[in-house]
Amino acid sequence: MVNAASSSESPFLAACRGEEPSRTPVWFMRQAGRSLPEYKEARAGTSMLEACRTPELVCEITMQPVRRYGVDAAIFFSDIVVPIAAVGVDIEIVPGVGPVVAEPFRTEADVKRLRNLDPCDVPYITEAIGLLGKELGSTPLIGFAGAPFTLASYLIEGGPSRDHAKTKALMRSQPEVWHAIASRLAAICGEFLRVQVEAGAKAVQLFDSWAGALSEADYRKFALPHSTAALAGVAQSVPRIHFGVGTGHLLEAMSETGAEISGVDFRIPLDQAAKRLPGKVLQGNLDPAAILSDEAPLLAETDAVVAAGKAAKAHIFNLGHGVLPDSDPEKLKLVVDRVHETTTR
Ligand code: CP3
Repeated sequence: MVNAASSSESPFLAACRGEEPSRTPVWFMRQAGRSLPEYKEARAGTSMLEACRTPELVCEITMQPVRRYGVDAAIFFSDIVVPIAAVGVDIEIVPGVGPVVAEPFRTEADVKRLRNLDPCDVPYITEAIGLLGKELGSTPLIGFAGAPFTLASYLIEGGPSRDHAKTKALMRSQPEVWHAIASRLAAICGEFLRVQVEAGAKAVQLFDSWAGALSEADYRKFALPHSTAALAGVAQSVPRIHFGVGTGHLLEAMSETGAEISGVDFRIPLDQAAKRLPGKVLQGNLDPAAILSDEAPLLAETDAVVAAGKAAKAHIFNLGHGVLPDSDPEKLKLVVDRVHETTTR
């Protein structure tokens, strides 16, 4: 680690830069959402996509976990499919299911259904981030997008998929259609990230949640170039975090996208990840299921993640995937406090 950052500076941003933060920063993927009673109350009667397009609601829901937990970063309340819907694709988020596409993308003609995103398509994003600037104070906001592979999988399968079979078949049978879809998605994601950064996001995360379904060779051929292009749009402006689930075999390949920070899921201990990615800042990786356990094993596991994270150039504490809906908010608060108490310098 480099010199210790001053205590007035954001520990999250210091860690993102690979500097020694005043304490190990903590935030949680899906920290806003169904585990919070105040979220359920705020969302009642409003569909997910409608909520994402209502700046006051986005601001309120983004702030809820910041107020409750004292996390070191806020993640913008939105969804990976928001920019896809914004360019006119008929896509809904079905509760308990996930994103569902009315007419799946399968052919050359479908490529044209993905036009470029214009900032005017998402005025509610800029407006919500403007509102958040006033509420957040010194807590940085993380913007995000879904990576082209993960988004393409929803478009091609038509909804959530266990094996991504249609997507993998299309890659092999019609590679030019695949690359055309993925490169258009990369342009949309890149623009979506840029809009958030221009409005005030201080870092971004690219979620390639389902990239773990690909072999390393297929990841390199079909996903890596498009994720690299998506992230290039905000290179040199803010730190970039890159995350996938079940991507232990892809750690090195995913870090080649140029992201400064590698998100590690709970299956790979952070000290092992640090050996494989020397000099990288790591984010992760408490098993989200640990939050459902009793206090003693939860705290022991939290301490173990903090200890393993010391092997990295800098460590941002997070879960190894999103907060599970049944999580007790008190337990999440316990984890935040424990990490802060045991790492404050
Ligand atoms: O708190 C945060 O992390 C910020 C908000 C956020 C949401 N979705 C809100 C949301 C983020 C970063 C996402 C990303 C997202 N969306 C991903 C990548 C991250 C991951 O979990 O791997 C993916 C794959 C999606 C697609 C998606 N949207 C799914 C699978 C679901 C769940 C469907 C369900 O009901 O089980 C959604 C809906 C969604 N996005 C919810 C939230 C809070 C739940 C909506 C509700 O309250 O009903």
